Amino acid sequence: MRGGSGLDYIRRISAYRHSGRFRAYGPQNEAFRLRPAGTLRIHELTSEERAIYYTLKPECLPEHVAIIMDGNGRWAGSRSLKRFLGHQQGAKSVQLVTETASRIGLPWLTLYAFSLENNLRRPKAEVNFLMRLLKSYLESNVQRMMDNNVRIRYIGRTHELPSEVQDRMQWAQETTARNTGTTLTLALNYGARSEMVDAFRGLAAEMRQKHMPIDRITEEDIHRHLYTAHMPDPDLLIRTSGEMRVSNYLLWQIAYTEIFVTERLWPDFRGIHLLEAIADFQRRERRFGGIGESCGEVEENPERIKLAAG
Ligand code: FPP
Repeated sequence: MRGGSGLDYIRRISAYRHSGRFRAYGPQNEAFRLRPAGTLRIHELTSEERAIYYTLKPECLPEHVAIIMDGNGRWAGSRSLKRFLGHQQGAKSVQLVTETASRIGLPWLTLYAFSLENNLRRPKAEVNFLMRLLKSYLESNVQRMMDNNVRIRYIGRTHELPSEVQDRMQWAQETTARNTGTTLTLALNYGARSEMVDAFRGLAAEMRQKHMPIDRITEEDIHRHLYTAHMPDPDLLIRTSGEMRVSNYLLWQIAYTEIFVTERLWPDFRGIHLLEAIADFQRRERRFGGIGESCGEVEENPERIKLAAG
C-alpha cells in the first residue's frame, strides 16, 4: 500500500515522470526519447480539477492529447451572438485548457485551430477575423505561456498564412522555444491529406537524392516526413460539439488513438473537461491490434481517495 501525504503523492508522480521509466503507449512510440514533462503544478489546479486529477493513474496519463475544437458558431448562435464572438470565446478556452495541461505535466497538446478547408470554404470576413484573432491571441498570451512553461509550435501549410500572422507566430515560437513543459502545437492551415502529400513529396526527393529503391519504403520513412515527426502519436483525440468525424485531422497519427467525443461546445470546454476526458481514456483497454495493454494498476492510495473526495 502506498501511503504518504498529498504532497508526497505529487512528488512521487513527478519523480516517476522524470525517471525515464515513463513511456508512451504503442510500439511505434518506443523509439521516442520523450521530452521531460516539466514540473507538475497540481496545487494550481482548481479544487474541482484536483478532485478529478487525484482519481487518475499517474503512470497512465497520456503523453499526447489532440483536440478538434468545434462548436464556436453554435455557441454564439444559441446566444443570438455573431459567430465571431464564439471564436473569441473559443480562444479563451484554448488558453485555459493549455494551462491545465501544463499543470498536470502533459507533454504534448495539439489543437486544430484552422483547417485548410476553413481557409478555402469560409467567408473571407470570417477567415480574416480568425487571422486577426490568432495574432492577438499570440500577442496577449505569450507571457502566460512563459509563466506556464509552455512551448508553442505549429503544423500545417503555415507559409500560406498572411505574412503579419506568420511574423507573430515566429515571434511566439522563438520566445517560448526554451520552455520545457507542455508543447502546445497549433494546427494552422492544416489538412491531414495535404500533410501526407507534403510528406510523400519530401520522401520522394530524399529517395531520389539517395537512390533509394521504392520497395524499401517503410512506415518509419513516411513518419519522418510528417509535420509531427518530432512528437509521439496522440494517445487521446477529443472532439467537442458532438460530431462523430475526424475532419481530415492527423489521419496517419490517430491510427491507434482513443477517441472521446463530448457534446460540450468548445467555448464551454475547460481544464476540468480535459481531465474528465483523460479519466475516460484511462478506463479504456488499448490493443494496438494485439490482445490488450493495460496500464498497470495503481495500488489504492487512501490519501488520494480522501483528496478526490474533497
Ligand atoms: C470551429 O467552430 C472552430 C474553428 C474554426 C477552429 C477553432 C478556432 C478557435 C478556437 C478560435 C481561436 C483559436 C486560436 C488558437 C486563437 P465552428 O465555427 O466550426 O463552429 P460550428 O460548427 O458550431 O459552426
